[in-house]
Amino acid sequence: MKVLTVDDDQTVRIRLRRYLQEWGHEAVEANSGEKAWELCKQGRYPMAIVDWMMPGVDGVELIKRIRAETGQGYVYLIMLTMRSEMKDLVEGMDAGADDFITKPFDKDELYARFRSGERILGLENRLEANINELRRSNEDLQQFAYAASHDLKEPLRSISGFAQILSDKFRQNLGKEAIECIDYINSGALRMGAVIDDLLKYSRVSAAKQKVAHVESQACLDNALKNLAAAIEENGATVTHPTLPSISIDETHLTQLFQNLIGNSIKYRNDEPPEIHISAELDSGERIRFNVRDNGIGIPEQFQKDVFQIFRRLHTQEEYEGTGIGLSICKKIVELYGGQIWVESLSGKGCNFLFTLPA
Ligand SMILES: Nc1ncnc2c1ncn2[C@@H]1O[C@H](COP(=O)(O)OP(=O)(O)OP(=O)(O)O)[C@@H](O)[C@H]1O
Ligand SMILES: [Mg+2]
Repeated sequence: MKVLTVDDDQTVRIRLRRYLQEWGHEAVEANSGEKAWELCKQGRYPMAIVDWMMPGVDGVELIKRIRAETGQGYVYLIMLTMRSEMKDLVEGMDAGADDFITKPFDKDELYARFRSGERILGLENRLEANINELRRSNEDLQQFAYAASHDLKEPLRSISGFAQILSDKFRQNLGKEAIECIDYINSGALRMGAVIDDLLKYSRVSAAKQKVAHVESQACLDNALKNLAAAIEENGATVTHPTLPSISIDETHLTQLFQNLIGNSIKYRNDEPPEIHISAELDSGERIRFNVRDNGIGIPEQFQKDVFQIFRRLHTQEEYEGTGIGLSICKKIVELYGGQIWVESLSGKGCNFLFTLPA
């Protein structure tokens, strides 16, 4: 491993070089913070041993610069210092140092700290490899879902097309039973088409994340309500809300969230007309928590986690139509932005769907 050693004192650099060579590593030396920073910009050093007190760019400043540069992998930083007062240690740690050695340092102590750094770098490497692997397999899966659902549409089109021809052209030659069968084929194909469309929507969610911008969540809600206008009118639903804040998100995502949740609130209604209230408040940290509350049939406690799984429905097609993808899309969107979604509900007393997004 290449270890950057930074000290204006040549004797220290020589000692460090000797020890590192003895342990099978290579020291790349810099006699000032400026020189070290130049080297960092040119090459990659997984570990650096840095003197605190140097004229010009000192150890703390150098460490701050290295930490601010996030492009390359993790650099394990050990500080060499004469100081040992608590206040100084805190300042160095705060700047991003991983460990300290007080001068004059002892070879065995340096070795122990060096080894501990090596272990942490090993873990870091494994973590990075796992993340890359996960990212790759996620992309594969994404592509698979997209291609599969896309390719299913073609044969489905011919099934429903020919069923249509059968029922249009040859209806008079067919018996009652045959016509009934064709109707089943047609409604099956229609349903399958809806499932495929929803699956495509689901698999497209992360592909669209690039268009993140500052958007008025109010405008997204307005769009969702426009898309739901017919259902709102048909069910005599009332939707109330205060003015909603602006957040950073892809606006089609927030519109989709509102539309799926409010669409559900209307669909899973009680005998009374649906009353839906939307609100938003600042959550702890830099997050906004949205609430979509309704007065519908509610969700029994034991199913409140399940409903976010893909294809999970609590009712039959005859009771309520749907593919069971709406809430899983909501979950996927919210998690894409590092947020959470959950539901609070008392059976028969309506639902309160909550989700958090970056402010
Ligand atoms: N507001 C609600 N009130 C009561 N039950 C709900 C509500 N929202 C969702 N559910 C329950 O959660 C299940 C999953 O909802 P989801 O929106 O994922 O699917 P869906 O509405 O069945 O189909 P679609 O994919 O067309 O949205 C629903 O089948 C329903 O049982
Ligand atoms: Mg739904």
